[in-house]
Amino acid sequence: MVIIKRKFMIGGEFENKFTKSNHFFAGKLLTNGTYFNSGRAAFDQILTNLINNKVNKIYAPAYTCPSLIERIIDKKLKYSFYDVDNNLIPKIKPCYNSAILIIHYFGWENKLKKNFHKLKKKKIFLVEDLSNSFLNSKRKIREKNLIFLSLRKFGIYNDGGWCNLNLNRKFNNNNNLANLYLSFRNNKMNYVNQKNKYRNKNIELRHLAKLSNLEKKINLKKNFLIINQTSLNQITNLDLKSIKKKRRNNFKILNKYLKKYSLFKGKLYPNIVPLGYPILIRDRDGIRKLLKMNGIFCPVHWKMHNFLNKKKYPSSVRLSKNILTLPLDQRYGKKDMLRIANILKGNIKYVA
Ligand SMILES: Cc1ncc(COP(=O)(O)O)c(C=O)c1O
Repeated sequence: MVIIKRKFMIGGEFENKFTKSNHFFAGKLLTNGTYFNSGRAAFDQILTNLINNKVNKIYAPAYTCPSLIERIIDKKLKYSFYDVDNNLIPKIKPCYNSAILIIHYFGWENKLKKNFHKLKKKKIFLVEDLSNSFLNSKRKIREKNLIFLSLRKFGIYNDGGWCNLNLNRKFNNNNNLANLYLSFRNNKMNYVNQKNKYRNKNIELRHLAKLSNLEKKINLKKNFLIINQTSLNQITNLDLKSIKKKRRNNFKILNKYLKKYSLFKGKLYPNIVPLGYPILIRDRDGIRKLLKMNGIFCPVHWKMHNFLNKKKYPSSVRLSKNILTLPLDQRYGKKDMLRIANILKGNIKYVA
């Protein structure tokens, strides 16, 4: 491991300082719905709703978070998975009385949404996963669509999920997962903020083990849990405006140096608040290691679920094998982005 100080670490699970306040964000944006302890739990309720409405089948992307695939294959609803093209547009011919799950990948609106009216005759439900895009402004919400999201991806909340079904449930105050998340993020904050300390591999490994344990725990909760009220109150002391601005600025800096490797070659429309900066590169895992050695931690969106037959979804496999999401969130600024770009410069090759 290259010896670097903790304060130069970039990415990885959030360690933001949380303050108690009213959930300004949730109250304003997410009306008429129900909160859960995770995005997958919210999605589970949408699947139940489709079953109750006698929908025949759901079409879901092969390129998605494995936790959603798990929920689909566990449910008593017919399903089939679809591939996406190189622009992340679903390749799909849905049958009558079915539902389509779409993801607004990394913050960009899924193009199927715009063309959805062409499918209406077939009685099709659109299920939108807004986990990557819920900070975008001017989102067009169609009441009839089923919408869900995971609250924790942008580092505003520790945990939680939401869907636009009005299930009239009460908050659960005994959700110990919420406390585990909170303590994880607090520990990370204490670790990173220790002045002039160098990284300690053993402590970091213990942190990672705790995180993967937490992931397993959410998955085990097959019966959904309602979000803990304290989770909703624990939001960062950063305001939404500055979060959006920082993410967009960081995107633009990375784009200046890395555009030819970017998954999104188009413009960063003014309404978009990006989740990260996804690049498509050769030897993704090697480059990820190189960044990690330099204290930069990048998630992979996503490892494909083992259940899927890889031969049937070539574009999804291409994405899953070659994509690396560079961190650009509100914790970082220009210096950090330039550090990432400098390490990558000369070391990466685009995958066509
Ligand atoms: C796009 C997307 N939707 C939903 C989920 C599930 O959210 P959660 O982890 O809160 O269950 C994930 C998980 O990473 C995801 O990436």
